[in-house]
Amino acid sequence: MLKKIIIDCDTGVDDSIAILFALNRKDVEVIGISSASGNTDANQAAENTLRLLKLAGREGEIPVCIGATEPLKGPKRPYPELIHGANGIGNVILPESAQRPVDMDVRDFLYKLASENEGEVTLVTLGEATNIALTLEKYPDFSKKIKNVVAMGGSIFGSIGNVGPAVEANVKGDPEAFDEMIMADWDVTMVGLDVTTAVHLKKTDVDLALSYCRDDCRNQLEYISKALVHYMRGARIQNWMRGESPLHDPLAMIVAVDPSVVRTQKRITRIECEGKYTRGLVVTDQREYPIEGRYVTHCVEVNENKALNVLFAAFQESLR
Ligand code: RIB
Ligand code: CA
Repeated sequence: MLKKIIIDCDTGVDDSIAILFALNRKDVEVIGISSASGNTDANQAAENTLRLLKLAGREGEIPVCIGATEPLKGPKRPYPELIHGANGIGNVILPESAQRPVDMDVRDFLYKLASENEGEVTLVTLGEATNIALTLEKYPDFSKKIKNVVAMGGSIFGSIGNVGPAVEANVKGDPEAFDEMIMADWDVTMVGLDVTTAVHLKKTDVDLALSYCRDDCRNQLEYISKALVHYMRGARIQNWMRGESPLHDPLAMIVAVDPSVVRTQKRITRIECEGKYTRGLVVTDQREYPIEGRYVTHCVEVNENKALNVLFAAFQESLR
């Protein structure tokens, strides 16, 4: 049976790799994509998504909806041009699509998709959780209609951060929304920096994949290769990485379709919404009498080689 997936993302470079991976998995049906602000604004993120769908030969097949342009509270974080470029996808200009975003409120869009596919959908969030929190506020039974949530965000081991010493961008960008998302009545798996920074995507991995990919996805890998030039430059300047980058959003999508790549642990979890350095911190409590929170599944270890194999297998020729 096909795995039905809704993607909520701020279509930047790593989001775009995650989207293309999902589109090329034979066992996945992407039933809708909503855009978030983060790597770029929600309008540009939707535009990038539409162009990616065209690139993958899927123009007009999957509805795309523009989401919230502001977080629930607090200032919007600056768009990280150093990492994702001025247009979010590493300054690569993809051909325009004739498909337009659906003319719907993102809350109605997400709820409608979830209701039409009740109990069958994995919601994969690759950006700030604003759209999800807003949908839960308008439709409290949204959580009952979704099978499970896989969210890229946060970190739980010590001080691992990327937009602060201990905070990750998707959580920090809208901590109240992320907290609402994990406190809702559904199964949430968080794929955080603890594992995404442990998978190193190398330029040579993409070159190799290009040498054995299917003809119908060569253009997509060529796009990935181009977009990664800017992204890996950012990783070099910001993360001490040379000729490689962490694997954030694609790893979350991989976990959504093949959880065997990670080892997980369930912990009572909340998001800290205060503090100069701690706003956006993921707080987990393993004490006997913990704080009030919900159990969230956290990825604590990853098989790097397997994750990269699973990623590129989606684009390769198949013997079956
Ligand atoms: O911290 C990494 C996350 O922030 C990724 O989802 C990236 O695309 C940005 O949104
Ligand atoms: Ca993202």
